[in-house]
Amino acid sequence: MAETGKLQGKVALITGGGGAMGGAQARLFAKEGAAICVSDLFLDKAQKVAGEIEAAGGRAIACQLDVQQSAQWARVVEETEARLGPISILCNNAGANFRVSFDEQTEEMWNTIVGTILTGSFLGIKAVIPSMRRANGGVILNLGSLASIRPGGGSPGYGAGKMGLVGLTRSAASTYAKENIRCVLISPGHVDTPFLRDNNPYSPNDASTSINNPENYERRLRHTPLGRLQTPEDIAKAFLFAASDDASMITGSMITVDGGSAL
Ligand SMILES: NC(=O)c1ccc[n+]([C@@H]2O[C@H](COP(=O)([O-])OP(=O)(O)OC[C@H]3O[C@@H](n4cnc5c(N)ncnc54)[C@H](O)[C@@H]3O)[C@@H](O)[C@H]2O)c1
Repeated sequence: MAETGKLQGKVALITGGGGAMGGAQARLFAKEGAAICVSDLFLDKAQKVAGEIEAAGGRAIACQLDVQQSAQWARVVEETEARLGPISILCNNAGANFRVSFDEQTEEMWNTIVGTILTGSFLGIKAVIPSMRRANGGVILNLGSLASIRPGGGSPGYGAGKMGLVGLTRSAASTYAKENIRCVLISPGHVDTPFLRDNNPYSPNDASTSINNPENYERRLRHTPLGRLQTPEDIAKAFLFAASDDASMITGSMITVDGGSAL
């Protein structure tokens, strides 16, 4: 089922793979020939995406993974390598946000946000590196945000976590370059996904924040010069580029896919 076979023979571990952006990456990478471990905090969401890939003729497994838990990372990496082979692509998508200001953000909220976005990506990198060595190289793709460029005065944990990914990306890139392992940060703008629409436990929304409220949708649209919110597929295409040999000389940097929102 390979389209152009850009990822033929590769094994990709995708976190938040049951979500909109992670799911779009999983489906696109599978089309390009990769075998996928779709992992998510919620196993049923991961199983749905893995099932779609298999139904389309691709190769995928589903695993439950809370990215904040290093023991779970060890189990998922071991299972992925045993069933699919050494991992050569890691996509760190899992994220959390509580859209409240500094005064209202609790220690618990901060820990969930930073623990998922930043510590979760750090733990993932540490967990997959031995497998990438066995694969003779690899690519780590971290999911940034406009908050990786200008965190501003919103949720402090989110700004710190996404800015922290700039440093984590550069640290991993410079540490592992000599082992043929690249690390790239991909920063979307406003993407129409459940993260912004729904009242999720990891990303609560109400009428004051959800893009189900037309006022919030229009505000994000006004801040997108190219005139539409991004789709998960827009972002997945950048992930494919960064994961493929087309990007073989790109490491440590940020690719922004935001319709001009950061301008
Ligand atoms: N939607 C946007 O506009 C936007 C913009 C920039 C960055 N992001 C980032 O995208 C990610 C969210 O993805 P999405 O927009 O496709 O939303 P989504 O809600 O569809 O997907 C997020 C997925 O992450 C999973 N998840 C949450 N906590 C987890 C954990 N601890 N361990 C493992 N999985 C976990 C969820 O179950 C869900 O499937 C976040 O990192 C967010 O910061 C989103």
